[in-house]
Amino acid sequence: MNEKIGLAILGGAASFAEPIHVGQLYFPDWSRYEKAMRGIFERQYYNNNGPLLTELEQKLASFFNVKHAICVHNGTFGLMMSLEALQLTGKVIVPSFTFIATVQAIRWAGLTPVFCDVDPTTHQLDITQLEGLIDPEVSAVLAVNLWGGACKPKELEAVCDKYNLNLLFDSAHGAGCEVDGKRLGSFGRLEVFSFHATKMISSAEGGCITTNDDDLAARLVAMRPSYAAAQSVEVVRVLNARMSEAQAAIGLLNLQDFEKNRQHNENIFAVYHQELANIPGVELVAPTNVTRSNYQYVVVNIDEQAFGLSRDQLQEVLVAENIKARKYFYPGIHRTIEFHPIWLTQGNPLPVTEKLSETCMQLPVGAFVDIEKARRISAIIKMAQQQAVEVVKRIEK
Ligand SMILES: Cc1ncc(COP(=O)(O)O)c(C=O)c1O
Repeated sequence: MNEKIGLAILGGAASFAEPIHVGQLYFPDWSRYEKAMRGIFERQYYNNNGPLLTELEQKLASFFNVKHAICVHNGTFGLMMSLEALQLTGKVIVPSFTFIATVQAIRWAGLTPVFCDVDPTTHQLDITQLEGLIDPEVSAVLAVNLWGGACKPKELEAVCDKYNLNLLFDSAHGAGCEVDGKRLGSFGRLEVFSFHATKMISSAEGGCITTNDDDLAARLVAMRPSYAAAQSVEVVRVLNARMSEAQAAIGLLNLQDFEKNRQHNENIFAVYHQELANIPGVELVAPTNVTRSNYQYVVVNIDEQAFGLSRDQLQEVLVAENIKARKYFYPGIHRTIEFHPIWLTQGNPLPVTEKLSETCMQLPVGAFVDIEKARRISAIIKMAQQQAVEVVKRIEK
């Protein structure tokens, strides 16, 4: 690896000519995709339960080891449909430290979020707080499996059973992860996965809902197209959340590549783990509570005092190098325009979420990162720590 001469933020050249993004961006090579697309055009069947969608749903059911995998246009629709299909009422307990779609879906379903804090080490839903938030209006817990790790699903199931609550999971980060050898996909009443291009299994846009519940699956299938009046299962609210054949084609190819891509991510994670280990103030968040991870995210926590720069200042350093590190998740959802008033009326403190939203950052992993690049990114973080005083002066000038 070439030694970098100086940080770009201090006047040196940017380390990367092209931007390095954080998402997975695994795409099959053109020849495989072209062949799949040619089939779609020859059949002239583009949408509405086409053969590729059927094949993908069968393969996903087997991948997730679950009875039903219902593909949808994206993970956000999957969450909205799930909350509706479960016929929930009143309030849903959810972490504030999540992607905005998790909580927006609760609003689209006409429900009210109750924000729960997360564990400071694992960043997963803090189960110790959960029982204190339950009241007669709460009908469900929407837990989020973060960072290629997981909540403790069996403990959550026990709490929800005790209070007769529905439990569902936003598993947008969790495709292929395993808890005690069991794949995410069949915990709680259902789980929702995202197949956005930034995720491990990508159909460009897309997602799927997994469940072992036949009635729930039938309701979800009936809700998915916008002409549910003609369906055999009666549902009140419908939307158009269909997955097209073109999406399914990419999904099938990426599913074939899953293990290769997962292994690539694991190798990159190992490099970050080694290279960041001795930098003061940098904590790499390991995927927790899982026996197998997809390593979909590389997340670090920056301790400003020990590192010398805040998370935001380090992000400026990295962006100047063309490394598109992201503040993730920022802000906590309870601080956004729509949800702040709701949180204020509920009044439960969220100290860990408040802190993590100021310290947590996502680093690049996935198709466009190789071992050399992960080393280079780590070396830049080290230089930033060593030259923190000069960097602060430059930023504050
Ligand atoms: C935790 C979480 N939930 C839900 C979503 C939404 O998924 P989609 O982009 O497929 O709608 C995302 C997307 O990044 C996510 O990270």
